[in-house]
Amino acid sequence: MQTTLVINSKGGSGKTTITTNIASYFASRNHKTAIMDYDPQGSSLHWLKMRSNSANPIHAANAATQKGRLIRSLQMYVPENTEQLVIDAPAGAEGVLLQEMVRKADFILIPVAPSNIDVHATADFIKDLLLKGGIRSQATKVAVVANRVRRSMPVYEPLERFLRVLSLPFLTRISDSDQYILAAEQGTGVFEMDETDVAAERKEFEPIINWLNPGADQQPARPLNVVNFGRFRMGA
Ligand SMILES: Nc1ncnc2c1ncn2[C@@H]1O[C@H](COP(=O)(O)OP(=O)(O)O)[C@@H](O)[C@H]1O
Ligand SMILES: [Mg+2]
Repeated sequence: MQTTLVINSKGGSGKTTITTNIASYFASRNHKTAIMDYDPQGSSLHWLKMRSNSANPIHAANAATQKGRLIRSLQMYVPENTEQLVIDAPAGAEGVLLQEMVRKADFILIPVAPSNIDVHATADFIKDLLLKGGIRSQATKVAVVANRVRRSMPVYEPLERFLRVLSLPFLTRISDSDQYILAAEQGTGVFEMDETDVAAERKEFEPIINWLNPGADQQPARPLNVVNFGRFRMGA
């Protein structure tokens, strides 16, 4: 089973949107797919309830912490034959909960919205993730995607420099598009919608798919350059 964690401490950065579109892609390609939702708001599980019966199924696992421990462990169950597990993280996860999610992950994808506040909060989050997240192996891959990018929008330059220092890839820019809102309402994703409506959205999402797809022409994992934290300041 391959596990992808979609996480950022900031709410509204696009975690659920990216999670559901990744899961929808794998399901549409006949992979046995599950979503594990750690967010008590349950947005990914709500998306699954909207999903058409004719679409390929996606298993729902609820890992939100509001319930009793025993029940939680049952609700977190993921079928043994699952090939692709996508984890949707809540905003503000830290400490033990952050480590629980991170320990499961082969891939950690961090969506970031293009405001200065979001970019700075994300840089802080990445530091926390790499220093205290308990990433279990150098083989765990970490990458960032920009989300809700408008054409007029400047600048990820400070973030991109920060990522270069850490040797973390910046995969793609996902635009601000009504198609993602439509997909969210209908329990579907851009890879399951009519291609003529979503050609641009698929193209911009594809680098995420290529990064996650085993056997696709992936870059080799690069070691994380954690020592540079102390020397680098955002905006410097
Ligand atoms: N690329 C996008 N284009 C348009 N709307 C988006 C996009 N990404 C997210 N949204 C919308 O922004 C809101 C927050 O996104 P969401 O994925 O729920 O973020 P998070 O899970 O990080 O809180 C949702 O209403 C979602 O539909
Ligand atoms: Mg969410």
